[in-house]
Amino acid sequence: MSDHLDALLHEKRIFYPPEELVKESNIRKWMDERNIKGYSELIKRCEEDPEWFWDELAQELDWFEPYTKILEWNPPYAKWFADGKFNIVHNALDRHAKGWRKNKIAYIWEGEDGRRRKLTYFDLYREVNRLANALKGLGVRKGDRVSIYLPMIPELPIAMLACAKIGAIHSVVFSGFWAKAFKERAIDAGSKIVITADAFHRRGKLIKLKDTLDTVIDDIPTIEKVIVVEHLKTEVDMKEGRDVFWDDLLKGQEKECETEILGAEDTLFILYTSGTTGKPKGVVHTHGGYAVGTYTTMKFVFDIRDDDIYWCTADIGWITGHSYVVYGPLIAGATSILYDGAPDYPDPGRLWKMIEDYGVTIFYTAPTLVRMFMKYGEKWPQDHDLSSLRLLGSVGEPINPEAWMWYYENIGGRRCPIMDTWWQTETGMHIITPLPISPLKPGSAYKPFPTIKADVLDDDGNSLRGEGGHLVIKTPWPAMFRTLYKDEKRYIESYWSKFPNIYLTGDVGRIDEDGYFWIQGREDDILNVAGHRISTAEVESALVSHPLVVEAAVVGKPDILKGEEIAAFVILKEDVKPTQHLKGVLREHVRKEIGPIATPSYIGFVDDLPKTRSGKIMRRIIKAKLIGEDVGDTSTLANPEAVDELEKAL
Ligand code: PRX
Repeated sequence: MSDHLDALLHEKRIFYPPEELVKESNIRKWMDERNIKGYSELIKRCEEDPEWFWDELAQELDWFEPYTKILEWNPPYAKWFADGKFNIVHNALDRHAKGWRKNKIAYIWEGEDGRRRKLTYFDLYREVNRLANALKGLGVRKGDRVSIYLPMIPELPIAMLACAKIGAIHSVVFSGFWAKAFKERAIDAGSKIVITADAFHRRGKLIKLKDTLDTVIDDIPTIEKVIVVEHLKTEVDMKEGRDVFWDDLLKGQEKECETEILGAEDTLFILYTSGTTGKPKGVVHTHGGYAVGTYTTMKFVFDIRDDDIYWCTADIGWITGHSYVVYGPLIAGATSILYDGAPDYPDPGRLWKMIEDYGVTIFYTAPTLVRMFMKYGEKWPQDHDLSSLRLLGSVGEPINPEAWMWYYENIGGRRCPIMDTWWQTETGMHIITPLPISPLKPGSAYKPFPTIKADVLDDDGNSLRGEGGHLVIKTPWPAMFRTLYKDEKRYIESYWSKFPNIYLTGDVGRIDEDGYFWIQGREDDILNVAGHRISTAEVESALVSHPLVVEAAVVGKPDILKGEEIAAFVILKEDVKPTQHLKGVLREHVRKEIGPIATPSYIGFVDDLPKTRSGKIMRRIIKAKLIGEDVGDTSTLANPEAVDELEKAL
């Protein structure tokens, strides 16, 4: 085994959080109040009595009627706090608007063009109530589905909360998806109502959302009304009787609206996520457990406090936005930034300027963005005062140690611990994650959150240590999804069939000798070269560690002798010449970093890699292109043109 693989497998660097931060952290104080001396004692107590932990946290929320049972676990079905009467909106909004946080800012919104809006909890409360009353007037009742297709404007959380307030189920579709994707999701959900906007700006370009919707709206048979936010006041076609402007609808609506008293297990939302078959999965989340899970992780992972300015850069159209832009932060009574724009527009200083302008204290983003900013260089963050930051977060994909270090040094000033949070649409909340008191190894997502038992198994269900295997979760957690919408069979087959009563995450992970988890990527991104298991992420990490490389995507190319060969597509730093010689240098670099087994047989230079709109590299498409298969539908890619580039590169 080469030195680099050894280094990746046994990352020796450990970074400790500043003492003051540990002392002041929510988790440390919570443990002190309960006489719990340290992390291992906490984990032990949680293992012995997980319900004790969740009960304590659930008690910090408001229940219309208390629950008597905490967990009912009939695998694969969990119910949490099932007989409690609850509504997440009462906790995220009503109780703040009626209490001392009334005039506290809930959202600071900034548009790409620099426009700003601030909404207090009281502002938000009244807008939500007006829309909730309007929806009721349109005949929306408990259990009805509402599709929401909006950019990152305040009307998006308002729409979600208004639905939840009256017990309707929201299904948000990312505004970057194209019409076909929207249609598929709205048909599956059987939505009565769509809430959309005229248009928004991205990279200075006008994106006409209502026009996009118009191309498919007639194909969605259940739609009765389309509510249109006039965000930019661009011209739109309004179909009489069906389409109505948000402002017209809300005119004269009462500013009070009774919050529906629901059962904790009532459905809060459906969120569609991609599965291996191509048909999106409708992941179903509930009011009670989801609220407790997102609130608890806001408190203990992000260490949220009342004087924080918190910024999660994810779009609300993804689970990260649902849990950590909308519900988690609002339940915690936080002040959040909402930014509707590209992160590097008009220049790569945009995010850093906003951190400085608003005094952001907690910043949560994705490794793909970190790597993009690495490419732009240190100069951009250095131009800004980032000293307000206290804590950083990462989510969505494995963060390679180089990007981790860059983020830690250049954004966090070596004083902000990085919470590398591993979780999924299905899990609803952070599952494997550090706490602000954890010693960190760059590239590791640390260990399971208190009470959660995660493991790495071989095909026969034996626990593995030091080797890659199936990442699984063995115990239920409150924010877990309850099913796939209208697809019970797929719920069981995809997640609960490989190992009975154990949740299969679909990721490959490894647990090192200190119990740290290293997520290696999706199972389908793992290569098998001559009988050796190699993670695409490991090869990519090696390539990215070369000073001339910015980003890399690695896929397997079937090979009769070796099973698979490694093909790599590489984005070089600006101004670096893509020569044949350089391919050899990089091959040699990987060989040196990991070992001959991981040396790419093919290297292609590209300017861009096909990515989903959430920034995930679409290896499936790269692989199809590489082996000459049909790449299928590329309409959900952020950059379909990158697909053609691949061919030229080889
Ligand atoms: O492969 C893991 C990766 O993202 C997948 C979940 O994707 P999604 O449901 O879209 O949710 C993304 C945001 C929670 C996981 O199966 N993933 C997510 N976070 C991490 C990660 N991989 C490594 N490290 C992470 N921190």
